Amino acid sequence: MQTLKDILYKVNIRSVTGSTDIEVNDVQIDSRKVKPGAVFIAVKGEVVDGHQFIENAIDAGAIVIVYEAEPVIKKEAVVYIEVENTAAAAGYMAHNFYGQTSEKMKVVGVTGTNGKTTIATLLYKLFTVLGYKSGLLSTVENKIGERVVAATHTTPDAISLNAMLKQMHDEGCVYVFMENSSHAIHQHRSTGLKFSGAIFSNITHDHLDYHKTFDEYIRVKKSFFDGLPSGAFAISNKDDKRGEVMLQNTNAKKYFYSLRTMADFKGKILENNLSGLVMLVNDHEVHFRMIGEFNAYNLLAVYGAAICSGEDKQEVLRCLSVLTGAEGRFDYVVSGKDKIMAIVDYAHTPDALLNVLAAIKKLRKSDEQVITVVGCGGDRDKTKRPIMAQVACEHSDKVIFTSDNPRSEEPAQIIKDMEAGPGSAAKRKYISIVDRKEAIKTAISLAKPEDIILIAGKGHEKYQEIKGVKYHFDDKEVVRELFQELGR
Ligand SMILES: Nc1ncnc2c1ncn2[C@@H]1O[C@H](COP(=O)(O)OP(=O)(O)OP(=O)(O)O)[C@@H](O)[C@H]1O
Ligand SMILES: [Mg+2]
Repeated sequence: MQTLKDILYKVNIRSVTGSTDIEVNDVQIDSRKVKPGAVFIAVKGEVVDGHQFIENAIDAGAIVIVYEAEPVIKKEAVVYIEVENTAAAAGYMAHNFYGQTSEKMKVVGVTGTNGKTTIATLLYKLFTVLGYKSGLLSTVENKIGERVVAATHTTPDAISLNAMLKQMHDEGCVYVFMENSSHAIHQHRSTGLKFSGAIFSNITHDHLDYHKTFDEYIRVKKSFFDGLPSGAFAISNKDDKRGEVMLQNTNAKKYFYSLRTMADFKGKILENNLSGLVMLVNDHEVHFRMIGEFNAYNLLAVYGAAICSGEDKQEVLRCLSVLTGAEGRFDYVVSGKDKIMAIVDYAHTPDALLNVLAAIKKLRKSDEQVITVVGCGGDRDKTKRPIMAQVACEHSDKVIFTSDNPRSEEPAQIIKDMEAGPGSAAKRKYISIVDRKEAIKTAISLAKPEDIILIAGKGHEKYQEIKGVKYHFDDKEVVRELFQELGR
């Protein structure tokens, strides 16, 4: 039980009908979850507007309605609170209702187009090794200490996010590392949280369908840094065109990392090959198990956050050197005999695929071939199919088009859409094999010793969804099996 007026702390209220001196037992934005005694906040979502469900919420027992637009009829027994923005109100109210736990732990948020999961996961692993009980909120998995909580595909809504933070605090977490996507920031899911630190990775022209213009996308990300308190740290990528703008108006202490110019956390890649990265980090030479140039950036961001949190340089570098990244993010398996490297990566947009193939190019020592296995999801944006196929052909020696998650679509038709992409010169480079396992098997058969195979699109996923049925499928597991079976 909590007093309504207490959980309204910081909410921008326009008017109140009824008394705020009452006890409430829950806060909800989904009318289906409302139980007697709850507060219902009508949030305008992308698809539905919560204002349509105010009556349902009252029928289910809501005693307080928080709204933006005037509801038609006000009921006697219900308290009505009109606010400027219900999404922001949900952020503050959830934070207050669940005990403002973000203020009792150190919460570090990561934003940017690519690398959020990787950076947040590395931070979680690092701080766990350093001896702190930590929480992780990512698009791949949520963890409280060693325990996996629930895997969602988006940053949770303000209510479940704050409920999760409370659980983390109750179980003794000292640090929490969370992805804070531009969607989440824009929808106020993290409004009200107190961050002790924030990291910016990079920005590319992704998610523009949602944010309409690039400037709007940058503005949303920047607002996260603008809202940081003065005691927090803000770490940004100096090599990204928008890196400095991000921190322009923040009150937090500013730090930069870079591979190219002077910066607080300066890296210089000495070796970047299949056996790892050797990098000078502020003049300390360190051998990392993670591979690829973009992981050099991710590692610098993580190093910076650890130093800003007061950790010891030598100790941090020693721990970071043995860490592996997030599952399915530039994740690799090397075959025992022929040393074929299979990289499993989540890249499922033209932009991400190009990124990963560019990173692979820099890893090549000499004339290893790059063989890419790639498919496109069904029931999703069809325009990216030919583009992804084209990107794969342009930056690989051989390509195998196959199925990703066809969902309700005909797998062969999706591949046909992909085949329309590559120009006539690239036609010789690819073959199409609908069955994903057969496609991976063919890639391995085509590979010479030390070649690199990229298996793109599914990353950490453990299933393949075909005609509405989810079958167990794990790219890494399949690769390991096939390396064995084919004696490579
Ligand atoms: N610093 C980076 N720069 C560019 N690409 C990266 C970087 N780190 C990881 N990647 C690649 O970008 C893709 C997404 O990585 P990751 O899942 O870590 O990012 P994310 O920001 O969490 O993405 P999402 O928005 O899907 O949650 C993968 O293909 C990964 O290998
Ligand atoms: Mg992610």
